[in-house]
Amino acid sequence: MLEVTALPLAELRERSSEKWREYPADVLPLFVAETDFPLAPAISSALRRAVDIGDTGYIASRTPLPETYADFALRRFGWRVDPSKMRTTADVSMGIVEILRRVTQPGERVVVTPPVYPPFFDLVSEAGAEVVRVPLVETGAQWELDLDGIRAAFEDGATALLLCNPHNPTGTVHTRDSLAALAEIAHEYGAAVISDEIHAPLAQPGTGFTPFLDTGEAAERVGYAVVSASKAFNLAGLKCALMVTASDRTSAVVRGLPIEVEWRTGQFGLLAAVAAFSEESDAWLDGLLRTLDANRLLLEDQLASKLPAARYRIPDAGYLAWIDLSGLGWGDNPARRILKEAKVALHFGPAFGEQGRGFVRLNFGTSPEIITEAIERIASLVDR
Ligand SMILES: Cc1ncc(COP(=O)(O)O)c(C=O)c1O
Repeated sequence: MLEVTALPLAELRERSSEKWREYPADVLPLFVAETDFPLAPAISSALRRAVDIGDTGYIASRTPLPETYADFALRRFGWRVDPSKMRTTADVSMGIVEILRRVTQPGERVVVTPPVYPPFFDLVSEAGAEVVRVPLVETGAQWELDLDGIRAAFEDGATALLLCNPHNPTGTVHTRDSLAALAEIAHEYGAAVISDEIHAPLAQPGTGFTPFLDTGEAAERVGYAVVSASKAFNLAGLKCALMVTASDRTSAVVRGLPIEVEWRTGQFGLLAAVAAFSEESDAWLDGLLRTLDANRLLLEDQLASKLPAARYRIPDAGYLAWIDLSGLGWGDNPARRILKEAKVALHFGPAFGEQGRGFVRLNFGTSPEIITEAIERIASLVDR
């Protein structure tokens, strides 16, 4: 069994990525979705070898990634996917924009389901479309898609939906039933569904993960999945994602994208993604999932004992916690005060849509010590 533990803080501070450069050294950075773990060994050795032999050119026109991803999807999700119906691009955001450009006309409306990963709003505009918001509904135990609201938006003319599965920031893995129902509704209205599945490898084994395209024929007809190793394996800077389809029609749409969309894939991203999705990295990913499971429970304990006014529902997937701090009376954007006075950087709740007022998003893809210290720092503000 492989144990995956975060690097020491001193080493992390040597990193030069966004997480470690945005704020001064007295701030604990738990905002952007980068993790504090070392690379999976298969990735390190693939990249080291590429550096040694200067394998730093363009990506080849045929690569092992589609086959490797198809094997990964079968092993991890029981999903049978055809490698000939995928193409690579630089990142998930680019895949989403390029597909949206093909499946919508300028000015058409695209449904997003806040609270949601803030760039979704911008990606829709970048593609020349307009955002329609159909918020998730909170059903006591879980967050769910508002299928009636989505139907009404399609009825009203929206032509696509941008799905986040698992959902960032709530960590919700949408159920097979709700995804199948969404696919049926989209099919009925001739709308496209683009499913961002970047957090899928991080679904906890107890919950499992249902790929949107694996929910039946309607989903295969209307759906596009955009996947990547970048969140689970912390490879965002290397630039590689896959656009996956499951029907001849949708596959033709992705095949019709300009070759430049594929050329922008990073060579290091590609090499790293092949190593990440290969069977050799399964034990590392399982180790990471165990660490994240412990962290999500530690966070619950810490909040319950030190910040009992916080409301937090343990996420099904990933390393992002969506925490309601409205009970503390720190205003619509509590992360602002927390940054200034507690020196902990969290993502601003309202950036995820108005449903995020009073919320913060905390990245627990780090060490138990940092999680504990962050909650202690935040809790120290309570009686100030
Ligand atoms: C749901 C979701 N989609 C996309 C991205 C960005 O992915 P990429 O860097 O591949 O564009 C993130 C990053 O955190 C994310 O959480």
